[in-house]
Amino acid sequence: MYEVFEHPQPEVNGQINFGVTIIYPGKVGKEYYLTRGHYHTKETAAELYIGLAGEGMMIMQTKDGQVSSLPIRAGDVVYVPPFWAHRTVNLGKEKLSFFFAYPSDGGHNYEIIRQRGFAKIVIEEKGRPKVVDNSARANLGWPSTHCECLATQVYY
Ligand SMILES: [Fe+2]
Repeated sequence: MYEVFEHPQPEVNGQINFGVTIIYPGKVGKEYYLTRGHYHTKETAAELYIGLAGEGMMIMQTKDGQVSSLPIRAGDVVYVPPFWAHRTVNLGKEKLSFFFAYPSDGGHNYEIIRQRGFAKIVIEEKGRPKVVDNSARANLGWPSTHCECLATQVYY
């Protein structure tokens, strides 16, 4: 469950889209609310995130199987290099909000993640977040709405 407030620019080389994402706190079963996650259509496009409030984690992966996770809290700067898929998880009891910026012609490929999910998911275990293999999801019951984007507000 999250909202995106974005200032899109013309989709041409040299422009930057930027905005703020807010992920609500909560879980479906054991799994924390998170964004859908995507690769950039133009895979050489990187992205920069800056944490504004709350407590969360950026999970990243490549098509050749590398996985990385980094904390994102107020003041944290998280860099998503080219070729890395990325999604963000709210691990706290408050809203997680962060600023993002990426090349306007980068595009979004949500389809691969929608079909295959991420290699790792984040669940609550004994009151604490734990990164586990996606195969654990089979035991959790796969929810369809926990990474639903509620609204995208566009500002020109
Ligand atoms: Fe992105």
